[in-house]
Amino acid sequence: MGNVAVLGVQWGDEGKGKIVDFLAQDAQWVVRYQGGTNAGHTVIVKGKKYILHLIPSGILHPGKRCIIGNGVVVDPPELLREIEELQREGIEVDDRLFLSETAHLIMPYHKKLDALSEKLKGKRQIGTTLRGIGPAYSDKMARTGLRVHDLLRPERLKERLEETLKVKNLIIKEFFGEEGYSFQELYQDALAWGEALQPYVCNTVHLMKKVIQQKDPVLFEGAQGALLDIDHGTYPFVTSSNTTVGSIFTGLGIPPGHIHRVMGISKAYTTRVGGGPFPTELKGEEGQCLRDRGGEYGATTGRPRRCGWLDLVALKHAAWLNGLTELTITKLDVLDTLKEIKICVAYDIEGELTEEMPADLDTFSKAKPVYKTFSGWEGTVKGATQWKDLPLQARSYLEYIEDALHIPIRIVSTGPDREETIIR
Ligand code: IMP
Repeated sequence: MGNVAVLGVQWGDEGKGKIVDFLAQDAQWVVRYQGGTNAGHTVIVKGKKYILHLIPSGILHPGKRCIIGNGVVVDPPELLREIEELQREGIEVDDRLFLSETAHLIMPYHKKLDALSEKLKGKRQIGTTLRGIGPAYSDKMARTGLRVHDLLRPERLKERLEETLKVKNLIIKEFFGEEGYSFQELYQDALAWGEALQPYVCNTVHLMKKVIQQKDPVLFEGAQGALLDIDHGTYPFVTSSNTTVGSIFTGLGIPPGHIHRVMGISKAYTTRVGGGPFPTELKGEEGQCLRDRGGEYGATTGRPRRCGWLDLVALKHAAWLNGLTELTITKLDVLDTLKEIKICVAYDIEGELTEEMPADLDTFSKAKPVYKTFSGWEGTVKGATQWKDLPLQARSYLEYIEDALHIPIRIVSTGPDREETIIR
């Protein structure tokens, strides 16, 4: 199968977990390269539901090996909890999970600062997952972050934690008027995390080099989606990492040329959690219908997701940014009961029609969707496994998307289970 990247091309929650799990059957390695515990990949295997935040979902396939690359921000107690949970289910993790020694850490003060700064923003809240993602990546860029290998070196850990905690405590206590952290407690916790994580820590850049040179098939598992990209998304209502394809190279330390397929994952409609503009949002009954039928509540936070029609303008933007070679459409069955289905084909911005997504948020906020309407299908696509079994209207809907994007749809997901999938 070569090396395949699986990337969200909307605002996250596209159902990447299921597709990664599905494609993992043909891969030897499943690797993550950006994001952190803000991701929540739900995978259902034989009726059992797994939600993974940090460990690549390939871990659910016996024998596959997984890497958490340097570009990921790692919350040590959360990672340890995930490892323990898998082990409790009888899933082997030792010798199958490799953690980059240079991945940055999400520390408890990052989570606190995430919550405090959200509160401070009041109405302009981003609606983050409160997992400390922004503060952890900020420290990385400010060169004040702690990394996985610091946990394994007590002297260095002491020095760096002391230095950084002084500043964090000052901000937490003096600016926010909240309780700070005790150095001794945090230091002891961090040493314990290091001890527990040590068996998994290695130089994943060297490991990836070997994997690529051996031509082992690799699956690159993206988190979040293109419209949440720190540079190319709807800033500031975005996450703090690059969620588009370039992040694979920096987040794992591999040169270009080793990704043979770039698979974009999109729902058959659109969802978004948190704040920020969303031109095709359906606020009334129709939106609620999609939310109910699609079970649109966050895997990480349980928050109800905002729902709306598919936005082809945004999708084209994501397709270009990622160089998509193919597309997967998920949750087609959610549209089963609808009489009419709409796709946004252009934006009307103060009377001007455009098919390009504006970069400026004020302009984007004014975008009114121009729709093309499709008739729904009578019947259900739930559980379909063959393209030919799809109702004509469902096929027309999908064919319109591929023609507009000039990208073939290779996979259609027709239900949450691994088997409820059409491969073309
Ligand atoms: P953060 O990544 O927690 O800082 O959150 C920033 C924005 O990205 C918020 O709107 C979140 O709801 C959104 N976000 C972060 N991770 C995900 C995800 O995995 N799925 C969907 N939205 C996400």
